[in-house]
Amino acid sequence: MRSLRLASLDKTHWKELVLAAELLDGKKTALAIRAEIKDDAAALKESQGITPLLLAILVGEDPASMVYVRNKERACTKAGIASRVERIPGTTTEDELLAMIQSANEDASVNGILVQLPLPDHISEKRVLDAIHPLKDVDAFHPENVGLMMQGRPRFLPCTPHGVMQILHRYNIPVSGKHVVVVGRSEIVGKPLAAMLVQRESSLGKDAVNATVTICHSRTNDLAAITNSADVLVAAVGRANFITADMVKPGCVVVDVGINRVDDKLVGDVEFDTVREKASHITPVPGGVGPLTIAMLLRNTLTAAELQR
Ligand code: GUN
Repeated sequence: MRSLRLASLDKTHWKELVLAAELLDGKKTALAIRAEIKDDAAALKESQGITPLLLAILVGEDPASMVYVRNKERACTKAGIASRVERIPGTTTEDELLAMIQSANEDASVNGILVQLPLPDHISEKRVLDAIHPLKDVDAFHPENVGLMMQGRPRFLPCTPHGVMQILHRYNIPVSGKHVVVVGRSEIVGKPLAAMLVQRESSLGKDAVNATVTICHSRTNDLAAITNSADVLVAAVGRANFITADMVKPGCVVVDVGINRVDDKLVGDVEFDTVREKASHITPVPGGVGPLTIAMLLRNTLTAAELQR
């Protein structure tokens, strides 16, 4: 249901009826998913005596990364999943980090390994992510897991794209047959999300996939013409307020993956106040996709423990 808001013009005019988008509440949705995971973790403990363990490695002191890792740690605890965080200096060499990953790969008590990105410039992200054992790769960044996902037989789903799929599904927004425009082609969000949306089948059912997907990026000609044909628009460019109301078709579902800091305030890639007047549904920032990312990480950690059983 779309909410109605009466905007009073002045006493001599009829009140104008303004339709504002329904908020897609990521916090509430993530709490529901985390409650399910907590139940599943308790069941795994009860039946197999296993408590999954996530190892997070944080290199350096990037303030945003420090907050993300702390939030992941807390979410684990609340869901009955154990966690360990290795906070290592930004001067750590690539070889030292690779050795740490190798030892975690061989440590049977570690079920999931996450290396928080971004890494310092002197460390190759690809070499590090490729070194994580594919069965412990809870971010689903390893080429083996990307390949399995592309082929429609996922082992783990990447957390943020999976969060986007979950929020649409849980708000009963089907994408089958719809034009979904993804703005952004990152390896973490844009590319894998597009691959997930075009699948024929998914664990969320056929309505959650089978979309007609367009990926747009920094070199796309006439971006607004494409975004204006979107039934569902996903913004994942990492630029504050990049998507403006003129780029959005009335009634569009808008999902904002961006988290940008502007004047010490978190804002998304979507100009929220103007776009919400045109969209049918919209995710806020904060409180939209972000909480879902963490929930899906917990799900993958549980899956990892089950796979390694
Ligand atoms: N940095 C920003 N997003 C992510 C993510 O999903 N996983 C990891 N490991 N680092 C990130």
